[in-house]
Amino acid sequence: MMVHGVVRVPGDKSITHRVLLFGSLARGRSHIGGALTSLDARSSARVLRQLGAAISPLRAGRVIEIVGRGRLRRPDDLLDCGNSGTTTRLLLGMLAGHRFAATLTGDRSLRRRPMRRVTEPLSQMGARFSDMAGDGLPLTIRGGVLKALRYEQPVSSAQIKSCLLLAGVTGGVEVAIREPFGRSRDHTERLLRAFGYRVVDSADGWIEMSPTGRITPFDLQVPGDPSSAAFLVGAALLAEGGELRISGVGINPTRIGFLAVLERMGAAPRIDAPGEEFGEPVGDLLVAPASLRATTVGAGEIPGLIDEIPLLAVLASRAAGTTVFKDVGELRVKESDRLGLMAANLRAVGALAEVQGDDLHVSGSDRPPSGRIRTEGDHRLAMAFAVLGTVRGARIAIDDMRCADVSFPRFRETLASIRARDR
Ligand code: S3P
Repeated sequence: MMVHGVVRVPGDKSITHRVLLFGSLARGRSHIGGALTSLDARSSARVLRQLGAAISPLRAGRVIEIVGRGRLRRPDDLLDCGNSGTTTRLLLGMLAGHRFAATLTGDRSLRRRPMRRVTEPLSQMGARFSDMAGDGLPLTIRGGVLKALRYEQPVSSAQIKSCLLLAGVTGGVEVAIREPFGRSRDHTERLLRAFGYRVVDSADGWIEMSPTGRITPFDLQVPGDPSSAAFLVGAALLAEGGELRISGVGINPTRIGFLAVLERMGAAPRIDAPGEEFGEPVGDLLVAPASLRATTVGAGEIPGLIDEIPLLAVLASRAAGTTVFKDVGELRVKESDRLGLMAANLRAVGALAEVQGDDLHVSGSDRPPSGRIRTEGDHRLAMAFAVLGTVRGARIAIDDMRCADVSFPRFRETLASIRARDR
């Protein structure tokens, strides 16, 4: 395969969720360009409409208008968060400062994902929970008057961090949090600062937020999602010639840990034309094929590339030597048991992959991969193996490619477009 051309990726998923939430908390009209319109983004829009916000339909290429009412309204019905963990956990934080009950649920994958990691600290702040199905959904939250919180997170997670910051916003109280290792994505902190909240990174790892700001209507352009761009970067690296430019991608340092790993693996993706949008750095990614070698990805790097591990693992299966991803146990509670499924699927296509404790070991080979992939509806698994399927001679059958719509509408067409152009 050859790559060629200039391509754009859909809007950033994390930023889209956050601007939908913030726009719903503002009193008045906000306008969002470049937003993601995928299934996950629609889940956020759907539940926020149930909570009183007016949000125009999410259609690709259209500016979205959000009319917020300042506060959320008691919902008449269950809030179905679909497949989206970010919607669920961030919304729980927002609801914690509202004095009414709301019940959240989701699809089969989401219902089994852990929620105690947010309900526990939210309970410490004063929110109450009932009807909890074990650690997961459905659950009912009853918010109210909140207390300040100082909390050490058991895992590095932007969803926990953002949930607690949003509880601080709707409850009007101070929140300080510390993550165990590495820095997870900081989009919420950046947005809060833009709205006048005091958010300080202290030297000893604490993030301290004081409710000094106000969420007011805003106009914003969402950058392309680096996690979606990563799949196209991967396809370009595995290609046999050419160069690909992916334009307008978010290059927030807490999101592009995968580029540093790729550099160690012998690839040299470049960032061109950097700029900034509403406190978020944006640029073009330039990438050409490379022969890859193995590396070790340390525990401290994981929060900065958590969603890129499926793609990096697939690339590791084409690299010389054995790549080790350290301390990736958190992957067990993603949209699937991503750790077990990645290893099983890599083996299913003839690669050597093994889970040892919480580490993932992947050995590379240059034999054409061939076999059947079981995704369990996990979008990132489907896309990672679709990228592996672009290798010359590959014969890979993926049981569900439609799940890519969770984060990357028109993924298949986009992947085909970067290869077809110079055939
Ligand atoms: C996200 C945080 C990450 C990531 C998810 C989006 C966010 O989850 O995997 O796709 O937008 O905050 P964790 O914070 O649970 O690691």
